Amino acid sequence: MNTDALVQHFAEQTHPDELEQFDRSTLSQLLKEHETPFLVLDLQEVEYQYHALQNALPGVSLFYAIKSLAHPAVIRRLKKLGGQFDLATAGEVDLVKGLGVAGEQCIHTHPIKKDKEIRHALEFGCRRFVVDNPAEVIKFVPYKDDVELIIRVSFRSQDATVDLSRKFGCALEELPGLVDLAMSNGMTVSGLSFHVGSQSLSPFAQVNAIQASLAAMKEMAHVSWKWLDIGGSFPVSYQGPVMPIDDFCAPIREALLDVPEGIEVFAEPGRFISAPSMIEVLRIVGKAKRGARTWYYLDDGVYGALSGQMYDHAQYPITPLKPFDPTGDFFPSVLAGPTCDSVDVIDEDIELPDLAVGDVLVAKQMGAYTIASASEFNYYPKPKVVVVEDLIEHPEDES
Ligand SMILES: Cc1ncc(COP(=O)(O)O)c(C=O)c1O
Repeated sequence: MNTDALVQHFAEQTHPDELEQFDRSTLSQLLKEHETPFLVLDLQEVEYQYHALQNALPGVSLFYAIKSLAHPAVIRRLKKLGGQFDLATAGEVDLVKGLGVAGEQCIHTHPIKKDKEIRHALEFGCRRFVVDNPAEVIKFVPYKDDVELIIRVSFRSQDATVDLSRKFGCALEELPGLVDLAMSNGMTVSGLSFHVGSQSLSPFAQVNAIQASLAAMKEMAHVSWKWLDIGGSFPVSYQGPVMPIDDFCAPIREALLDVPEGIEVFAEPGRFISAPSMIEVLRIVGKAKRGARTWYYLDDGVYGALSGQMYDHAQYPITPLKPFDPTGDFFPSVLAGPTCDSVDVIDEDIELPDLAVGDVLVAKQMGAYTIASASEFNYYPKPKVVVVEDLIEHPEDES
């Protein structure tokens, strides 16, 4: 389906059955075995998304950004598929190390690190580090013979939901100075990287960043460039449609045709691989009529796995598990989390059929930046993760 067809498809459905592609019987079985709230992680979906992105970006080495969902089962599955890993902290190093990942299969992409973290990553065998400022370059002087540096450049984008180039990345004009600083201190500079922002709604920021990076590499011909790292950003659909990944990557593929031979291209996808792989199953634990709206209180909220609403600006599609008549009556409703804080509101303005205490709701696209940022405020435990295979069906698989 192209973008126009997708928009049309959603526009025609006033109250779409958001769960149509889920195996409802498996969900009902899981509900008998596990107390809500819980997250269901479908490893087939991780595999599906990994292949979809790899097919859309042939020849690009994918380093999964484990910060988006650092679940051991996800890492194991991606390792089996030949995936590599983007690490940012000593904790992430320990996690992948414990799962048998080799240091050479990783890049360390946090532009700001403690000396202790650099040593820890080096001991693990990870030698490729991202830097974006002079103070960070100088931190590598003691390890100059053991590291290869990738310099991160900032390219701001209006099309990304989460702007990552505000906080990190040097300006293009600062790049030659950083390269000189590193090389004059005996270090090896081998790559450029950027991240145009997460959940990017158009590929053109990435295309521009690729073109500008290639031009900069050409100008600095004295550097033996080995890598161009095009970051993450690949979008998934939350409330509205996004470009299918193959269409999204088409102009990126085209821009990458200009990459000189001998330069390997990396990407650091997080969200695209992890977001669709997990759903959350929640239960209504309270119901109150307040003014014109019915408030439903759920057993998880923005202090739990729905924390991505606060930190990641995501609006997860939430829908009742039990089938409902899409042409029946819908009422103005509010979905709220269980904690005592009034900020713990999931949706102030949602139309729902009449529901009861005890009814189950399902939140979709809950894999990326959700449980990763959940807290235990009010002593509510974080929802547990139940790992399954094949909960999500793709009609095209059958053809
Ligand atoms: C350095 C770096 N790489 C990769 C990612 C993953 O980005 P995305 O989830 O948009 O693919 C992030 C996200 O914060 C990041 O900071």
